Amino acid sequence: MLTKELLVKNTITHNPVAKLLKVSKFYGHGDLLVKALDEVNLEVNKGDYLAVMGASGSGKSTAMNILGCLDKPTKGSYQLNGLSVENLDDDALADLRNKELGFVFQQFHLLQDATALENVMLPMIYASIPPDERKILAEKALERVGLHERMQNRPNQLSGGQQQRVAIARAIINQPSLLLADEPTGALDSSTTEDVLRLFDELHDQGITIVLVTHEDEVAKRAQKVAKFKDGKIIEIS
Ligand SMILES: Nc1ncnc2c1ncn2[C@@H]1O[C@H](COP(=O)(O)OP(=O)(O)O)[C@@H](O)[C@H]1O
Ligand SMILES: [Mg+2]
Repeated sequence: MLTKELLVKNTITHNPVAKLLKVSKFYGHGDLLVKALDEVNLEVNKGDYLAVMGASGSGKSTAMNILGCLDKPTKGSYQLNGLSVENLDDDALADLRNKELGFVFQQFHLLQDATALENVMLPMIYASIPPDERKILAEKALERVGLHERMQNRPNQLSGGQQQRVAIARAIINQPSLLLADEPTGALDSSTTEDVLRLFDELHDQGITIVLVTHEDEVAKRAQKVAKFKDGKIIEIS
């Protein structure tokens, strides 16, 4: 469990937010073995804005899923705020995801039957935040992403860009250590892409640590660092 003591220890010892140590992820067996990740080392420090690039099938989403504790390495170790997560059980991982990680996907993954406000409030229910506080915090988060006038709308009443901003508000609502975005602009047109990227820039300026997967050079240029994947390995960090 990620305790206060651990967070204090982390501050003193300056651990990276996220550290992959020789992380491999294999699928299948024998002749059909796929090395989705092959001994990947990566450090993400507080305040970083890292873009992840590479051809389709190079291991980007697999790496993001491991960073996001949605999946576990086959071999190697993943440390989140100095805590090795590979031995945690599913409940502990769910708790860690809720408290320490925010995830934004290409297809938004919002609850269709819930309003923007309810979507953003959801992670706070799991985090046991009292109901009246939830509403105030969710309203603030939706204001932060420029959607204060659309709080009562359901996803199908919002544009793609607006839906992605709801998803971003939901991802940051519990003040995660790490915001992970897997091709967040992949389903958006170019002007909406610009709006969403400006929002990531603002969040980064406010101190949020971001790892973002993209195919597009224009998107990667917004980041401070780029990690390039090929065949399950990082072949370049610049
Ligand atoms: N659940 C899975 N089962 C089998 N193979 C998978 C699975 N997920 C990913 N892979 C394989 O692992 C490799 C890396 O996939 P992925 O991380 O999704 O790549 P990217 O996001 O860079 O396109 C690919 O060869 C892919 O087919
Ligand atoms: Mg992918």
